[in-house]
Amino acid sequence: MSEFIYDRVLLKLSGEALVGDAGYGIDPKVLKSVARQIKELVAGGLQLAIVVGGGNIFRGMSASAEGMDRAQADSIGMLATVMNALALQAELENIDVVTRVQSAIEMREICEPYIRRRAIRHLEKGRVVIFAAGTGNPYFTTDTGAALRACEINAQCMLKATKVDGVYDCDPAINPDAKKYDRITYKEVLTNDIHVMDSTATSLCKDNNMAIIVFNLSEEGNIYRALKGEAVGTIVEG
Ligand code: GTP
Repeated sequence: MSEFIYDRVLLKLSGEALVGDAGYGIDPKVLKSVARQIKELVAGGLQLAIVVGGGNIFRGMSASAEGMDRAQADSIGMLATVMNALALQAELENIDVVTRVQSAIEMREICEPYIRRRAIRHLEKGRVVIFAAGTGNPYFTTDTGAALRACEINAQCMLKATKVDGVYDCDPAINPDAKKYDRITYKEVLTNDIHVMDSTATSLCKDNNMAIIVFNLSEEGNIYRALKGEAVGTIVEG
């Protein structure tokens, strides 16, 4: 049992969240802050799996919009997530958090292949499991990869770390009157086309009753507070 309201969760980190002030790639300050927060969660007995995106290095969708074949662009994007996963693993191991990286695309020389039952065993042993390479398929986002892994490992919820402090009815950067939701249903997200995740990821969570907590990663301590049951960000549920 953990000291939190959940025992096993999946944390989705967007690649962009790792950029910080660096402008491109990985900001070591952000990586260190994320690693510190993760260490605190694991020390509290939480079983934690992580999915990292790759948008800080390569965005498959943008490249495809510029004319690159979508499947090819997505392959590059999936490789970018592996770089982020290995960087996060290195940072966590620097502060003595035991981790395993599992990739949906086999690259045994640098990490384990994704094996569901093995991932669950790692979690039971208190290791942080970082899932890389999305679902291993083009045309799926890392959000969908995260939703899929969260369901597969029987996570009790999915934490989606972003650069904004929750879900709004319109873009708060453009509209100062944008309203933030404390709670919203999957159906509202899908029907009103509210930007939380792509519709494949949201539908997967809806069909499997996987709650999503959307919160701002840059406020240190947010993950901890959300897992203690405090109202942080927006919760998307049935
Ligand atoms: P236990 O079964 O609980 O002992 O788990 P374990 O992960 O420690 O077992 P194992 O002996 O399989 O792994 C030892 C180390 O090798 C770990 O750091 C694994 O991440 C790593 N490892 C295991 N399989 C692979 C693989 O296919 N490729 C790579 N690169 N590393 C692997």
